[in-house]
Amino acid sequence: MKIAIFGGTGDLGRGLAITFAAAGHEIIVGSRSQERADQAAEGLREAYPEGTFVPMENAEAAAAGEMAVLSIPFEGIEATMPALAEPLAGKVLVSVVNALKFGKSGAMAVLDLPAASCAHQIQDLAPEAKVVVAYNNLPAAALQERHPIEGDVLVCGKSKDAREAVIELTKDIPGCRGLDAGPLANAIIIEGMTAIIINLNKRYGGEASINVTGLESPPARA
Ligand SMILES: NC(=O)c1ccc[n+]([C@@H]2O[C@H](COP(=O)([O-])OP(=O)(O)OC[C@H]3O[C@@H](n4cnc5c(N)ncnc54)[C@H](OP(=O)(O)O)[C@@H]3O)[C@@H](O)[C@H]2O)c1
Repeated sequence: MKIAIFGGTGDLGRGLAITFAAAGHEIIVGSRSQERADQAAEGLREAYPEGTFVPMENAEAAAAGEMAVLSIPFEGIEATMPALAEPLAGKVLVSVVNALKFGKSGAMAVLDLPAASCAHQIQDLAPEAKVVVAYNNLPAAALQERHPIEGDVLVCGKSKDAREAVIELTKDIPGCRGLDAGPLANAIIIEGMTAIIINLNKRYGGEASINVTGLESPPARA
């Protein structure tokens, strides 16, 4: 599948690009600038020579991708989404975006957002895209290094079919398992959980991820 990653030049975008390319997907590396997209694609080819990485500006990437991932800081949502809304109509758009702030006592979720969550703001600005929250809690470094992550990916979104598509895609992340966590209303919980993970990493070291126990028939881990 052709997967467009907006902010494919950044840490998590790069990690997902390498991971999905290794599973055989064609990656469209999106950026606000063609030059940065070119440089990022070059770097990705060096990191994973077998992969297909096509650099494009974000709007062009939105048109070319069959599925897309928005991997930018939350402050950029408002400026980025309007140009992507039309080319993303009818497509699954995965949001990995978290709104976090950092104080002396640690990382915290930003709660006074323009909408109920980053994902809601994205959905409001691209009403015909099928916005799904996923991968918000995965560590970028492990993905870039292709280290298996024994983690559960909590997947939320309005459309059940879109959630299923992302759960299926998650089978391409070694060690991971996608779990259907219900409607988009729960996005803020998944986004905010990343603040807790960052604090755990700081306090105890390592790279934590979420593991759900006690389920009777969950999907198998990749
Ligand atoms: N890093 C992690 O481990 C991790 C894990 C889980 C979730 N997340 C979430 O994933 C998202 C991306 O994280 P990241 O660490 O990859 O971020 P990042 O490296 O800081 O930024 C990713 C890319 O976003 C673009 N960007 C930066 N500022 C922007 C703005 N104001 N408007 C539009 N685009 C902008 C830049 O690409 P161009 O300049 O090329 O356009 C940049 O390379 C964040 O929302 C973060 O909370 C991160």
